[in-house]
Amino acid sequence: MAKARIAVVGAGLMGHGLAQVFALAGHDVALTDAHAGTLATAKDRILANLTDLGDDTAALARVRIVPGLADTVREADFVVEAVREDLAVKQELFAEIERAARPDAILASNTSVIPITAIMGNLAHRERALGTHWWNPPYLVPLVEVIGTEWTSPAAIAFTMELHEAIGKTPVHVKKDVPGFVGNRLQHALWREAISLVEHGICDAETVDTVIKAAFGRRLAVLGPLENADLVGTDLTLAIHQTVLPAIDLRPGPSPYLEKLVADGKLGMKSGEGFRSWTPAQQAELRARVLRHLKAAR
Ligand SMILES: NC(=O)c1ccc[n+]([C@@H]2O[C@H](COP(=O)([O-])OP(=O)(O)OC[C@H]3O[C@@H](n4cnc5c(N)ncnc54)[C@H](O)[C@@H]3O)[C@@H](O)[C@H]2O)c1
Repeated sequence: MAKARIAVVGAGLMGHGLAQVFALAGHDVALTDAHAGTLATAKDRILANLTDLGDDTAALARVRIVPGLADTVREADFVVEAVREDLAVKQELFAEIERAARPDAILASNTSVIPITAIMGNLAHRERALGTHWWNPPYLVPLVEVIGTEWTSPAAIAFTMELHEAIGKTPVHVKKDVPGFVGNRLQHALWREAISLVEHGICDAETVDTVIKAAFGRRLAVLGPLENADLVGTDLTLAIHQTVLPAIDLRPGPSPYLEKLVADGKLGMKSGEGFRSWTPAQQAELRARVLRHLKAAR
């Protein structure tokens, strides 16, 4: 694919990583952030990642730090935002982007769960607006969900799929713009049942995590659930569902157990306790373990 001009808005956890991946693949990247301090450290963070991964640090020269939004997006072929997960902030941002960007530039949101229709619905040129949902860390997790709305043109989807394929990601096309898209719907269906098992005293939080990590989690990276269903047989899957599904948590909202943790200030690692207690050393060990695993799988 020809070299494209990419604009990345938001240089936080996700944004600097997106800029890094596009630049490493040879594209020119303009990167901005509303917070001057975050923007000032973006190149250092990208360099640290490139160095740690043994990737070509010359990619850094293709990332241009730009203080203003209009100057960031003006020339871009493809604009992606990774700002705070807040509908009003994203709506306002895209209105501003649309005023400055070329009318044919493709505009993408990296929202985790907010429908793209809600974010982009007020734009004048909705046919070029879509979602590209990356996963953290963006330079290690391959998936990018490409989400179209009822207005998105097939050409915009095709360009975006091709662009992400060419930079080494694994893009998938999500055909309907539903909350959570595909990945977070699947992930949080599992989390709902995980929390419910603890809430109902069936096992403790550590046991939930051990069951997943020591059993089907081992296979998940190479065996998706529907491949697995076909492997064991749809007839067996049906029999299992007849017994198990009626017992599974079906409440439509968040668990009261989770709501109480939050109300009690048990916010997880950031407060030292959530479902479990975490010393600083345990937190560091967990983060290092995840990174080691993702790097080995790269
Ligand atoms: N963290 C994850 O694991 C993850 C994974 C996938 C998708 N996402 C999504 O990516 C987006 C960004 O998440 P993050 O974790 O990188 O957040 P973050 O808080 O690390 O970074 C957000 C950045 O956006 C900047 N910002 C806020 N408003 C802005 C504006 N109007 N213009 C320019 N910059 C602005 C902030 O200064 C901040 O640096 C969110 O929508 C989030 O849901 C996050």
